Amino acid sequence: MRPTPRTSLLHLIYFSRLNLSADPSARSQQMDDLARQCQKKNEFHVITSFLFVDQNFAVQVIEGERNALIETFNRINVDPRHRDVKIVEWREIAKRDFGQSFALSVRGPVNDALYAKANLLPTFQRGTPKAAGILSLAQQLQAESLSRQGGDPMLV
Ligand SMILES: Cc1cc2nc3c(=O)[nH]c(=O)nc-3n(C[C@H](O)[C@H](O)[C@H](O)COP(=O)(O)O)c2cc1C
Repeated sequence: MRPTPRTSLLHLIYFSRLNLSADPSARSQQMDDLARQCQKKNEFHVITSFLFVDQNFAVQVIEGERNALIETFNRINVDPRHRDVKIVEWREIAKRDFGQSFALSVRGPVNDALYAKANLLPTFQRGTPKAAGILSLAQQLQAESLSRQGGDPMLV
């Protein structure tokens, strides 16, 4: 039998609808501000995460120790920069899947093939996305972004 861990590692997957500007340059500035703020917070709380944005949907996997994760999600849940925040899955995990405190992927020409293949948009529109599909796309986007940067995955 494996020893029981002293603290538990969990992930939480949610999706929401962004309330950001329709103007591309204002929106990109808002995303930059959000990313800077989230990265700092997550580093402090030893949270790793991956956020992807497809049209107006934000989808995020956050990983960390139970209390840090709950605290973080409570802040996310009341943030006016998005609405209709819905948890897809919340469970214990054996290890982290993501290496950065805050990684962000916005659907665009460089990664469109992966988004198109996963075809999750209709499931967000219906309100019934599956955790496994989200996790798989986020992992592929992470790998694709690391290979474009020529780096090795640095998993915690
Ligand atoms: C789509 C989205 C994702 C976010 N992700 C995180 C996150 O990973 N970690 C985090 O601390 N805050 C995240 N936030 C920001 C929080 O909602 C909040 O603004 C931030 O933690 C600062 O909280 P404070 O002003 O109470 O200090 C996110 C917000 C949005 C809209």
